[in-house]
Amino acid sequence: MRLPLTLVIALFCYESVLALKPAKRHYSTHDYYVLEHDPHAGASLDECTGALGVEIVEQAGELRNHWLVRAAKPSSELNKRGADRVLQALEDLRARATSGSFWSRFEHAHHPRRIVSSVKHLSRQDLRQRVKRAPPPIRPGDDGDGAETSQAFAARMGFEDPEFGKQWHLINDESPHHMMNVTGLWEMGITGRGVITALVDDGLDYNSDDLAANFYAYGSYDFNDHVDLPTPTLFDDHHGTRCAGQIAAVKNDVCGVGIAYDSQVAGVRILSGPISDIDEAASLNYDYQNTSIYSCSWGPPDDGRSMEGPGYLIKKAMVNGVQNGRDGKGSVFVFASGNGGRSGDQCNFDGYTNSIFSVTVAAVDYKGLHPDYSEACAANMIVAYSSGSGNHITTTDVGKDKCAHSHGGTSAAAPNAAGVFALALGVRPDLSWRDIQHLCVQTGQQINPDDPDWEQTAAGRPFSYKYGYGVLNGYEFVQAAQDWQPVKSQTYINLPTVQIANGTMDLFQSASGGEPIVPGGVSSALTVTQEMLQENNFEKLEHITVTVWITHTRRGDVQVELVSPNGIKSVLAARRPSDNANTGLPGWTFMTVKHWDENPVGDWSIRVSDEGKEYDSGTFLGWTMTLWGSVIDENGEFKVYDVPLIDTILPPTPEDGDDSATSTIAPPSGTTSKIIPKPTEHLPPDHGDAEGEAHSPAFPGGQQGTPVDDAASPAETSSANSATATPTADEGWFSDLSNLVSNQMWFFVAIGAVVLFGLGAGLFFWRRSVRRRENYTSLPAGDDVAMSSIRVTGRRGMPRTKELYDAFGELSDDEDADEETELRPGARSPRVEFHSGFLDDNPSTAGLTTPRYKDEPDTPQHEREPGSPASAASGSGSGDGSWEHASETR
Ligand SMILES: *[C@@H]1O[C@H](CO)[C@@H](O)[C@H](O)[C@H]1NC(C)=O
Ligand SMILES: *[C@@H]1O[C@H](CO)[C@@H](O)[C@H](O)[C@H]1NC(C)=O
Ligand SMILES: *[C@@H]1O[C@H](CO)[C@@H](O)[C@H](O)[C@H]1NC(C)=O
Repeated sequence: MRLPLTLVIALFCYESVLALKPAKRHYSTHDYYVLEHDPHAGASLDECTGALGVEIVEQAGELRNHWLVRAAKPSSELNKRGADRVLQALEDLRARATSGSFWSRFEHAHHPRRIVSSVKHLSRQDLRQRVKRAPPPIRPGDDGDGAETSQAFAARMGFEDPEFGKQWHLINDESPHHMMNVTGLWEMGITGRGVITALVDDGLDYNSDDLAANFYAYGSYDFNDHVDLPTPTLFDDHHGTRCAGQIAAVKNDVCGVGIAYDSQVAGVRILSGPISDIDEAASLNYDYQNTSIYSCSWGPPDDGRSMEGPGYLIKKAMVNGVQNGRDGKGSVFVFASGNGGRSGDQCNFDGYTNSIFSVTVAAVDYKGLHPDYSEACAANMIVAYSSGSGNHITTTDVGKDKCAHSHGGTSAAAPNAAGVFALALGVRPDLSWRDIQHLCVQTGQQINPDDPDWEQTAAGRPFSYKYGYGVLNGYEFVQAAQDWQPVKSQTYINLPTVQIANGTMDLFQSASGGEPIVPGGVSSALTVTQEMLQENNFEKLEHITVTVWITHTRRGDVQVELVSPNGIKSVLAARRPSDNANTGLPGWTFMTVKHWDENPVGDWSIRVSDEGKEYDSGTFLGWTMTLWGSVIDENGEFKVYDVPLIDTILPPTPEDGDDSATSTIAPPSGTTSKIIPKPTEHLPPDHGDAEGEAHSPAFPGGQQGTPVDDAASPAETSSANSATATPTADEGWFSDLSNLVSNQMWFFVAIGAVVLFGLGAGLFFWRRSVRRRENYTSLPAGDDVAMSSIRVTGRRGMPRTKELYDAFGELSDDEDADEETELRPGARSPRVEFHSGFLDDNPSTAGLTTPRYKDEPDTPQHEREPGSPASAASGSGSGDGSWEHASETR
C-alpha cells in the first residue's frame, strides 16, 4: 500500500514540475542543454543526467521527453577555453560504448551503451537574437484626415476611437477597395470573442488603455527577462504592442480599434535580447491549449544573403503545435514574409516562412500595390495590407494613451491576417490549422490582374510570388469559414532521393560526385504514380517541399525551378545579388504552395542553373521532394510527420531516423548561425512612402534573366567567400557575450587576488579591468554597481545579457559585426549536437553492468565545480527549485 502512495506523490510532484512557469535562466553561471530522453532505451533520466554531469531544470517547453538541463560553467579560465565538458562527456561515453572496453571503473556506475542509447539528442543552448520585421522610421508628416465614409461608419456604429479615421486598413476612404474588409463582420457581431492570439515579439504594453481589457496574462511570458509579464522595457520595445493593437485594440476612446477587437492578446517576449533555441521553441508552444494563433513578425535577417531556418527543437515545437495544440486542431502560426525585397531577399531562404506549418503573409499597400520591401517566393500564401505609397498603419503604441502612426512592413501585414483568422475562429473554433490555410488559398482575391507576376495554377487559381493567392479579404474569408467543411487529416509522401552522378554529402557538408552546373542548367526528374498515391492513402495535394544538395562558390547565382507534370513552374530560388556565400545549398528545403490541388501524377522535373560569372561554379548533387496533402481514408493507415534528427545527408539515412546506423554527431550549426543585425535593419526607412508597383514579375524568368550586375569583383568575391560572408556572426555574437561574461568573471577573480595577494597584484589587475571597462563605455551606468558586487549568484544572468545586447545594438552593419567577431578570437567551438540513438539496435550488451542506484555518487568529480557559487546556489535557489522536485520524483 505504500507503493501507490509514493507513486501518487511522485506523480503529483512530476505534474507540478510540468506546470511551473519556466525557471529563470542563469547563462552567466551555467551552460544550458536540451536532452531528449528515450525512456524505453534502458537508462533512466537520472542516470543520463548523472553520467553527463548535468542537473534538470524543467521540461523543455511543451516537448515531451525533452528536458532543459544545466551544468555550472567551469570556473577556471583554462577550462573555459576547452571543449564543452557535457558534450565531451557524451562523446566519451559514446566512444566507450563502441569500443566495448570494460575495464574502466566508470563502467560499473554507468553503462555507456544504455546511457548513450537513451540520450536521443543533446544540444547546447546558446543565445541568439531574432530580428523584428518592422522597425519604425519616423514618419515625416501626417496627411489624409478621416474622410466621410469612415466617419459615417464610426458615428453609426458608435466608435469613439479618435484615430479610427486614420485606420485605412479598416475603412479606406481614398481607395475603398483596399482594406481588410472586416467592418461588415463587426456589424454581424463577429468580433473575435473567445479567441486568443499570442504576439511572439518584444514587449506588450498591457497597461495601455487600448489593450488592458483584452490582455490575456495567463498565456503571456517574458523569455528574455524570465518574468511573467512581457513588459516593454527597452527604448524600442514597441513592436509587439503595435502588432497587438492591430489585432485586439479595444473599442473605446483611445487610438483606434483592432480587427478582432473583442478577442484577447497575449505577449510572449523573445525579441528583446538573445534567446536560446529551446526558449524559442517553448515560446511557440506557450499556453498552446488556450492560445489559437501565434503571430510572428520576425525571422532570420532580411539581408538578401542569409539562408537559415528553425533548428531541430524549434521545428519540433512547430510540429508539436500543429499536431497537439488547441486540443489537436493545431496552433495557427502566422509569419511575416520578410522585409528584404529591396535586397533581393526571398522568403524561400527563410525556414520559418517556407515551413508548411506557417501561413506566410506578405504585404500590399493602401493602393493595392506591391511595396518593394515585401519579399516574394513560392511559399507566399497571401498578402495583407501594410505600409507603402505614402501611408502607414495606425495602431496602439506603448504608453497609457498612445497611438503609433508609422507602423508597417510585412510585420504589420502578418497581424492583420492574424486578426482575420481570429474573427474566423471566433465563429468556427473547430477549424484546424490546415483549414485556415485552405481558406486562404480559396478566398485570396486577385489584385492588379495585369501584373505579369500572376500565373494560373493547374487548379485554375491565379498565383503570384509577390501576392501568393491574393489579398486576404476578411469578409470573404469569414463567410467561407462559416460554411467550411473541415479537411481530412494530413499525410505526406517522401519521393525517393535522387543522387545525381553519384553525388553525396556528409554531415559536415563535404561533397563528392554530382554534376557540374553548366550554362543552361542541370535537370533531373522524379515520377509520381497513381499507385504511389493509393499506397500512401494520399488524396489531394497541398504543399510541396523540395530538398536540394548543391555546392556553389557563389550561392546567390543559383536558380532552382520545379516544373510539374502539368507544366506549372515554381521558381524555388531566384538570383540573390548580395548572397556571396560559398556554402551552396547543403540539404536546404524549399517549399511551394503553387501546386495546391494539382494532380501530382506524372514526371516532376527540377532544373538547377546559374547565371553568374564563370569563375563561380558549382555542382548539383541530388534532390528529393515531399508531397503533403490530405488522406483518402481517415480510417486507413497514413503517415504522421515527425521531425527527423538529421535530414541534410545525401544519400539520406534510413527513414525512421532513430535507428540510423551512420551518424552520431549532428553537423555544427555553422550553416544556420545568425548575424545579429540591429532590429531596425532591412526595412527601408521609406517603406511607407516609396511608391509600390504592380507591373513587374518577382523573378524575371529563369533563362532570360536580368543582366548580371553585381559589382563584386573577383577579389571581393573571394574575400567574401571566407567565413565572414556567410552569416556566422550569430555564433560570434554569442562568443562576444560569453567572452564578456568571462571577462567579468575574471574580474571577480581579480578582486579575490587583491585580497589574497596584496596591493601590488591588485593594482595590476585593477589597471587591466579599467582597460576593459573603457572598451565597453556604452554599458549602462548601473553597470558599475554590478561590476563591483562580489556576489556572483544567479540574479546577474539575463538582465546583464540584455544590457550587453543594448550596448552592442549600435554595431549593426556587417563590417562592425565582423570586427567584433575578430576582436574575440577565443570564440566558442561551434555548437555540436549529439545523436546516439544508433545503439538501440544492439541490446545484447544492455544487461552487462549492475544498475546504478540513486544514492551512488552520480558524477565524476571533474564534472562539478565544488567551489563555484553557482553550484552551491543551485540546490536552494528558489527560481530553480524545479530541479529539486524533478529528482525527488525519480
Ligand atoms: C467587403 O465586405 C462587404 C460586406 O460587408 C461586401 O459586400 C463587399 O463586397 C466587400 N468588399 C470587397 C472589396 O470585397
Ligand atoms: C487554459 O488551459 C488550461 C488547461 O490547459 C485551463 O486549466 C485553464 O483554465 C485555461 N485558462 C484560461 C484562462 O482559460
Ligand atoms: C556511379 O557509381 C557506379 C558504381 O559505383 C559507377 O558504375 C558509375 O559509373 C558511377 N557514375 C558516375 C556518373 O560516376
